[in-house]
Amino acid sequence: MEPLRSLILAAAGNDTIRRLVTTAPGARSVVARFVAGETVDDALAAVAALAADGRHATLDHLGENAGDPASAESAVSAYLGLLDALRAGALTGRAEVSVKLSALGLRADEPAALDRAARICAAAHQHGTGVTIDMEEHDTVDATLRVVRELRRTWPSVGAVLQSYLRRTEADAAALAVEGSRVRLCKGAYAAPPTSSGTAFATASEVDLSYVRCANILLAGGGYPMFATHDPRLIEVLGERVRWYGRREGTYEYQLLFGVRPDEQRRLAAEGETVRVYVPFGEQWYGYLMRRLAERPANTAFFLRALASR
Ligand code: FDA
Repeated sequence: MEPLRSLILAAAGNDTIRRLVTTAPGARSVVARFVAGETVDDALAAVAALAADGRHATLDHLGENAGDPASAESAVSAYLGLLDALRAGALTGRAEVSVKLSALGLRADEPAALDRAARICAAAHQHGTGVTIDMEEHDTVDATLRVVRELRRTWPSVGAVLQSYLRRTEADAAALAVEGSRVRLCKGAYAAPPTSSGTAFATASEVDLSYVRCANILLAGGGYPMFATHDPRLIEVLGERVRWYGRREGTYEYQLLFGVRPDEQRRLAAEGETVRVYVPFGEQWYGYLMRRLAERPANTAFFLRALASR
């Protein structure tokens, strides 16, 4: 992993840096580029704006690593409130939700996190929409996939996420490439384990090649692949692979992040592709913002300039 990326991801877990960044006056303007706002109304406004030019959304109520049951329960309440608001706004056809199991207390108590995720899935299903379970640090992959498997017993459409920077992902993709299985494929945004452990790929080109191998596996299977990337080269390759496998539009989708390459989002949607934008909202934006900065040095420069300009 490149030194700057490792440094920023390390800062993401540092409390002193978090306090400095979250209280810096210039931070808000950068946050606004990647985060739809702090309230449910902000999130609904973003969904409506995306819907206006044919884009769908998946809404992430920001928050991760719940340290105690009370904060995990408040994350559940936030999602239930969000789902009610989506239904009231007649937007359930345009947006699903993305959930981080760490916000539901996965590290402390897996059965409790499963129960909380099940309550969110039940509400989503009742309201006519769906849920995707985000993937987080590499040491939570097994537990996350276990929870997804359990949820799918009742709600088969619950989405899973795979990260191509992990060597195990080809095997996970093969296991998940089955009829009805929704799988988001991304490169992976978290600090990878040391490459000497053999768990993750060492270079960007290996991660990209792994992405294409996993995409082939998902396209060859009977599931519904969700290609989450902004990488222009990968998007081109995916277009070719989709045609090669004879996939029709509507049997797969592209996903991009709120605020990243919006012109490309519109271009794909205008070509008739299904495009879903990952829309984070809420007050706990720090970890999310740091991962976006780590992905692109230009974002970090933009952020530092914004901080310095106040
Ligand atoms: P890459 O990082 O190589 O970027 C390719 C190009 O895209 C860049 O050159 C730049 O032009 C543009 N770009 C990428 N990131 C940018 C940014 N932050 N700002 C501006 N331009 C940028 N990860 C994870 O571990 N678990 C998860 O559950 C998810 N979920 C998820 C959902 C969706 C919808 C997306 C799009 C991504 C995720 N991710 C994720 C994040 C993912 O793993 C990855 O970190 C980012 O998508 C960046 O990787 P790219 O594939 O875009 O390629």
